Amino acid sequence: MKVLSINGQSHQVDVPDDMPLLWVLRDVLGMTGTKFGCGIAQCGACTVHLAGQPVRSCLLPVSAIGARPVTTIEAVGQTANGHKIQQAWLDKEVVQCGYCQSGQIMSATALLNQTPHPTDADIDAAMSGNICRCGTYVRIREAIHAAASA
Ligand code: FES
Ligand code: FES
Repeated sequence: MKVLSINGQSHQVDVPDDMPLLWVLRDVLGMTGTKFGCGIAQCGACTVHLAGQPVRSCLLPVSAIGARPVTTIEAVGQTANGHKIQQAWLDKEVVQCGYCQSGQIMSATALLNQTPHPTDADIDAAMSGNICRCGTYVRIREAIHAAASA
C-alpha cells in the first residue's frame, strides 16, 4: 500500500511499484482529467505537477513519487497562476478538440510559477514538449501572455 498526496488529499493505493502515475490517476482513482496521449513522454498530454515541477505522468513509476505532492488539472485552478491560466484559456478561446489542453495548462502554469513574465522564447522553451495536433499554439502563446499580465 502506498500513500500519495494528490491535490492536497491523501490517497492510499494498492498498486505495483512500476505502475505509471497516469494509470493510478485515471484507472485507480478515477481522475480522468489527465490524458493518455503517446505513453512515451513525447506529447505532454499527461503532464502533472510533482512538487511544483511539470512531469510526464505516463512514464513516472508510482514508486518514484514518495511524499512529494502531486497536482493535477482537477485542482490546478485553485492556485493563483492556475486560475489565471484557465481564465485566459477561456478568454482567448484556446481550446479546439481539447485533448491536449490539460497538459498544456499544467505546463503553462508551471511556466508562470517560475517566470512570471515570460518572453516568446521562454514560452516556446517551456511549451515545446506539449504537442497539439489541432495547432492551437498561437492562441496558447497569447493566453500565456494574457495570464502573465492579468
Ligand atoms: S502521454 Fe505522456 S507524454 Fe504523451
Ligand atoms: S486542442 Fe486538439 S490536440 Fe490540442
